[in-house]
Amino acid sequence: MRAPALHGASARGQIQQLRTPTFDHEADCLDALGRPLKDLRLSVIDQCNFRCTYCMPKEVFTKDYRFLSATERLSFDELTTLAGAFVQLGVDKIRLTGGEPLLRKDLERLIERLAAMTTRNGTPVELALTTNGSLLAAKARALKAAGLQRVTVSLDSLDDEVFRRMNGVDYPVSRVLEGIEAACAAGLAPVKVNTVIERGVNERQIVPLARHFRFSGVTVRFIEFMDVGGAASWTQNGVFTSADARRAIEEVFPLRAGEQHKLSDTAQVYRYADGAGDVGFISSVSQPFCGDCTRARVSADGKLFLCLFATESFDLRRLVKSGCSANDLAGEIREVWTRRGDRYSELREETRVVPGKKRYPTVRMSLVGG
Ligand code: GTP
Ligand code: 5AD
Ligand code: SF4
Ligand code: SF4
Repeated sequence: MRAPALHGASARGQIQQLRTPTFDHEADCLDALGRPLKDLRLSVIDQCNFRCTYCMPKEVFTKDYRFLSATERLSFDELTTLAGAFVQLGVDKIRLTGGEPLLRKDLERLIERLAAMTTRNGTPVELALTTNGSLLAAKARALKAAGLQRVTVSLDSLDDEVFRRMNGVDYPVSRVLEGIEAACAAGLAPVKVNTVIERGVNERQIVPLARHFRFSGVTVRFIEFMDVGGAASWTQNGVFTSADARRAIEEVFPLRAGEQHKLSDTAQVYRYADGAGDVGFISSVSQPFCGDCTRARVSADGKLFLCLFATESFDLRRLVKSGCSANDLAGEIREVWTRRGDRYSELREETRVVPGKKRYPTVRMSLVGG
């Protein structure tokens, strides 16, 4: 069951519906499929200095592309209030995303405030960030000092030529590697690397990337190319499955199944048999993991998306702008989450082949940050 169309609900209508909450935010917030709300992916900016071919192809994201203006983006005060509402509902992990989150000016000031939050159990909220790494060498220490716990860096190739082509802006791989080293040195651990594999483009990079990060403490996760909004060039043929990626690595470095830390983790983790560390596989096309999906996404202009492939959103911005308290916001979010039945990756084939049921256009990846 899908939630009714939410996108255009007027602020006044929503505010009038607000009442003194009678529910108890201590209770678990479960969606229609019984999935708790545990992770918040909070986008702070929709702009990026890269134009990755699978995410923001430069033919689409031209200089005339209309990104959110500074006034459309939520302020740090507003983002903090919003995050507080999610934490009240049981969120224990916040991941800052973009576009490229490090392009947001003074991000450290927001991190300081989010890092001070505690979960309902009284433990600090886990605070992570996904970045393309280009500004990391300069910012890693300040991010750590502000309270950021860890980073995940996107890196699709060690081959400079392939990397420059894939990032769309001729950006050299050496600078991203410097960023990863700076993150490790600053203690933003465990540092992870995300690699999207597109068949015919960078599958030859799997083994070199695996080799490069063995014994480094950095876990590389290979991600199947997804048909997300923005991935204009996606075809099923472009998907290089995790099973194939794992086989390619195992031919060189034997692997053992590793431990999944949490049911909701996106990656299946494997360990190198010789103790060189871990490697992960995110198989959202070949082995969808919607059944355990506890992730909510909020765009930089305060829209709540219940799925990476959502076609509609719930406008939290107007509520936040109208001075709604974190407690009242939590009540509204609870209502939306309770109706959530999204499981796009599990329905992918169904939605694709049934005429008239194709759910495009889904939200663009760069608005909700993966
Ligand atoms: P950890 O907290 O380190 O486990 O990271 P994470 O997997 O929660 O977040 P990360 O940003 O590292 O996500 C990795 C990639 O997995 C994203 O960029 C997406 O490509 C994909 N991904 C993450 N969450 C989802 C999801 O809910 N659905 C789908 N289909 N893909 C997802
Ligand atoms: N398929 C898979 N992952 C994608 N990302 C962006 N576009 C895609 C796509 N089409 C992921 C990248 C990056 C994060 C921001 O989003 O891994 O790390
Ligand atoms: Fe930017 Fe990340 Fe998208 Fe690449 S994948 S264009 S770095 S937001
Ligand atoms: Fe969650 Fe949607 Fe991804 Fe499924 S497709 S795991 S429901 S975000």
